Amino acid sequence: MAIIKDILQTMEYGPSPESNEHVIAWLGQHERGFGHFIDGKFTDPAANDSFEVSSPANGNVLAHVARGTTEDVDRAVAAATRAFKSWSKLAGHERARHLYALARHIQKRERFLAVLESMDNGKPIRESRDIDIPLVARHFYHHAGWAELIESELPGYQPVGVCGQVIPWNFPLLMLAWKIAPALAAGNTVVLKPAEQTPLTALAFAEICREAGLPDGVVNIVTGEGETGAALVGHPGVAKVAFTGSTEVGRIIRRATAGTGKKLSLELGGKSPFIVFEDADLDSAVEGLVDAIWFNQGEVCCAGSRLLVQEGIAEKFYAKLRARMATLRVGDPLDKSTDIGAVVSTEQLERIGALVAKGKQEGAEVFQPSIPMPAKGCFFPPTLMTGVEPASTVAMVEIFGPVLVAMTFRTPDEAVALANNTRYGLAASIWSENINRSLDLAARVKAGVVWINATNLFDAAAGFGGYHESGFGREGGLEGLYEYLVPSHGKPTKGTKAGKPQLNAAPSTTAIAASAEPIDRTAKLYIGGKQARPDSGYSYAVVNPAGKTVGLAGLGNRKDIRNAVEAAAKAGSWGAATGHNRAQILYYIAENLSARAAEFEARLRSLTSASAKDAAVEVATSIRRAFFYAGFADKYDGAVHATKSRHVTLAMNEPFGIMGIVCPDEAPLLGFVSLLMPALAVGNRAVVVPSARYPLAATDFYQLLDTSDVPAGVVSIVTGETASLAKTLAEHDEVAALWDFGSTTDAATIEAASAGNLKPVWTGGSRDWSSSDGQGREFLRRATQVKNIWVPYGE
Ligand code: NAI
Ligand code: MG
Repeated sequence: MAIIKDILQTMEYGPSPESNEHVIAWLGQHERGFGHFIDGKFTDPAANDSFEVSSPANGNVLAHVARGTTEDVDRAVAAATRAFKSWSKLAGHERARHLYALARHIQKRERFLAVLESMDNGKPIRESRDIDIPLVARHFYHHAGWAELIESELPGYQPVGVCGQVIPWNFPLLMLAWKIAPALAAGNTVVLKPAEQTPLTALAFAEICREAGLPDGVVNIVTGEGETGAALVGHPGVAKVAFTGSTEVGRIIRRATAGTGKKLSLELGGKSPFIVFEDADLDSAVEGLVDAIWFNQGEVCCAGSRLLVQEGIAEKFYAKLRARMATLRVGDPLDKSTDIGAVVSTEQLERIGALVAKGKQEGAEVFQPSIPMPAKGCFFPPTLMTGVEPASTVAMVEIFGPVLVAMTFRTPDEAVALANNTRYGLAASIWSENINRSLDLAARVKAGVVWINATNLFDAAAGFGGYHESGFGREGGLEGLYEYLVPSHGKPTKGTKAGKPQLNAAPSTTAIAASAEPIDRTAKLYIGGKQARPDSGYSYAVVNPAGKTVGLAGLGNRKDIRNAVEAAAKAGSWGAATGHNRAQILYYIAENLSARAAEFEARLRSLTSASAKDAAVEVATSIRRAFFYAGFADKYDGAVHATKSRHVTLAMNEPFGIMGIVCPDEAPLLGFVSLLMPALAVGNRAVVVPSARYPLAATDFYQLLDTSDVPAGVVSIVTGETASLAKTLAEHDEVAALWDFGSTTDAATIEAASAGNLKPVWTGGSRDWSSSDGQGREFLRRATQVKNIWVPYGE
């Protein structure tokens, strides 16, 4: 037997296993087999088909679960649809009581759920017990509050309907909570498909729903693999899809839901930077890295997997890191002193191994500490790769394992450039004792979540989600709640197809001008602050409802859109300008519009045959709308979220950058102004495609932009065939968000085309632009993405 003196010498831990008897007993009660949870009970699957669920730490089979078919999904969606009728009508307070009951029941079974999660997923019990499951309970408590408050705090919003939710295996129950709690709080019902690797805590949760008295059909759980997920996502009865998982599947889902009108949020992968400046507290930063990349075996979408160290301290920092790595304990997930448990599956283990081999092949130096490793099971040692080239595979690709790649930088600017050198944009961690610099970097890093001198902090009160290929939409906080609500004025429907513009076959505008038609002039495109001839050299005749040609507009193409985006890319200072500055310019636009009201009224009358009165109202409303957003330019505030730790969590409304805006035919001037102004107010640059039918109200507008001090490139206007220009905007990698209100565009094509860089697309449809539906916070919210910056306080 070891004597105390020896133990003090080595500081060795003895084994400290957590008992799993209660989990074994529970699996026994279910005879280690589960059907789907539909309409409040476990049901036999439609097909007699199941698959094994095993523990990655030792390969032991834990249970068999059903492989869901389209028929199972049908039944679950039908149950959720029935339940929606009463659940959505329930008073917020009643829903709050249900969510509170779920939170209480989860809390009562925390130990059980933590053990089950660790057995199923392989994560250390210390993490499932102290992080995952408490956060699950926290999520239901927090959203019990929202259920109570939505009526008073978010008037004018209603639930979406049945939500189809597909989640991954890295935080099985936590991802379930992130999906289900806000959905139910907002009055939706759900069908959730857990990951095939880790379905067990979702099934335990199903049982909790029953115990807690949740009405039947409000929560349904269908198990299965990717095909089951695809059936759920594709089900016509599903009104909202929420997905967390790989970017690859995120793209598939974007395409599958294109044009269906389903609301969509995607939380995808990441390759998040962990930036260490030479003035950082290096020992804290090393501990931070342990949490950033060795938490949950590195199987974390927001893992700090790219270490960026300032050059002067790099070697010193690596040395400290290697020493710390040698103290990490890899082994039995159920041992309370295990730091790194098992990777989720043999496929994942092989994937990680292959990527590390690739890194080595590409010239990285690979360090793995010589620590005891379990002889069997899916274990991978903590790994550090230094000397990594920024363009190498391991620096670009999400490894999703306990593998850190390191690079160095010299200046803060270089750190920002390296940090943003990724297709992802989920999170960033910044380490420096200089708060000014940290906040400056936090603002410049393109990521949805930024932690200063901290990492991997999560809370129900703060939004979480990414930029670019990390997906769109947020989970948690007020920003997350909107994903489960729609404005009560309803989903606007696409307007009647106005038909393609009449394209003029003449080879050039001059040829047309020389023809018999009395045409006053051809409107050019407006790109980079200048009038520009369309690349095609063609124009088209703009014909009024009486069939009279009232002018010619440039026939823009793909090249013109590219030029406009290039010009916009150079006008980045617009986003950095203060709200006050932007307000001044928007007021100036309004003032100039007002000065030329008569001209615009005449234009509207000739374009649309509107009455004098209607034209005057449209111009006056456009002026008011510009004032409205000028007023908002310095008032669309973010928030400081009340997170459950000592942090000031800043929820900043950030512009997307470059937005594409496709305007409707109805209200040719007002529609254009209603879409452009909110985008500008919050700091976006815009490439605008005006109504193809009535483009001339928009092309007149560029004279206003010129005289109102709008910097070159901030607004470009490209006229032409709306559908193809919109598709080009959807495909363009640098266009970060797209509003498609086009009357002749096809949402299915546009949304599918957006799958490349996974930009959010707002398919607005037609609405009454002269009413309150034509303006408001909804537009500002759609023009921004929320970045949560966690700033610590206290020492
Ligand atoms: P995955 O994206 O295939 O799986 C996530 C979920 O989507 C699972 O429930 C799966 O059954 C479902 N699914 C798969 N194909 C589907 C489809 N066509 N339609 C609807 N649902 C579908 O991720 P996988 O294969 O488990 O892991 C591969 C890689 O993805 C990992 O190595 C990692 O890099 C990344 N990943 C990222 C996650 C994140 O949290 N961002 C989570 C899991 C994986
Ligand atoms: Mg997969």
